[in-house]
Amino acid sequence: MIEVSNVVKVYQRGKTVVRALDGVSLSVPKGQFLSVMGTSGSGKSTLLNLLGALDVPTSGALRIDGQEISRFPDDALSRFRRDRLGFIFQFFNLLPTLSAVENVILPELLSGKPRAQLEPKAVALLEQFGLSGRGQHRPDELSGGEMQRVAVARALLSEPALLLADEPTGNLDSKTGAAVLQLIREATRQRGLTVVMVTHDPKAAEVGDRLVRLADGNIVGDELVRSAA
Ligand SMILES: Nc1ncnc2c1ncn2[C@@H]1O[C@H](COP(=O)(O)OP(=O)(O)OP(=O)(O)O)[C@@H](O)[C@H]1O
Ligand SMILES: [Mg+2]
Repeated sequence: MIEVSNVVKVYQRGKTVVRALDGVSLSVPKGQFLSVMGTSGSGKSTLLNLLGALDVPTSGALRIDGQEISRFPDDALSRFRRDRLGFIFQFFNLLPTLSAVENVILPELLSGKPRAQLEPKAVALLEQFGLSGRGQHRPDELSGGEMQRVAVARALLSEPALLLADEPTGNLDSKTGAAVLQLIREATRQRGLTVVMVTHDPKAAEVGDRLVRLADGNIVGDELVRSAA
């Protein structure tokens, strides 16, 4: 599904040059749950942003289902992001003035889908994620774990093929984080989604099928996780 070939990403700020990714090659088959670990600054978010087409590589190629993302024309790129990709962030990125349901449907609403069609899907997803009765709550009326479950529902509403998660449990206590991870694990397995999840937490990484370690922009470890739940 994902084919990363010799990807280099260099950031230049004045005289400072940072090689955030230094020739990374990686293939992720459809349906795999890949965890990515590495010290701060090792290039994890850079890799995720390239996979999500939020940024372009300095050199090398990233292919999704055989298509080179950086060569997508603009309209194809936004369609790719909208229809095939779900994103989950460390800080949930919910809009504070919108209800849970509104947050879940917002991306699809902005892409022109009718509200009447989206709302029942959102309500069903929230229910499935243990949030029945929370649909009308605003983010400040939800716990951290509940906010992240709303964000997972938002990421899955468009039925994407690929889920990218950057430290989805980074702001949750370990018990809440474990519950959210289990939910991500189960919801993505049911749907046959490919997942790339960045985490600092070795316990979180074990939820995946495979663990890749980055250091200084290079892959320094790549192993199957035996205890995959
Ligand atoms: N937009 C940018 N401009 C310049 N340098 C950047 C930019 N984004 C990232 N970097 C640098 O690239 C390197 C890799 O950054 P990245 O965000 O990928 O690290 P990370 O592994 O996600 O770290 P963390 O665990 O702290 O989130 C770092 O040295 C960072 O300072
Ligand atoms: Mg990061």
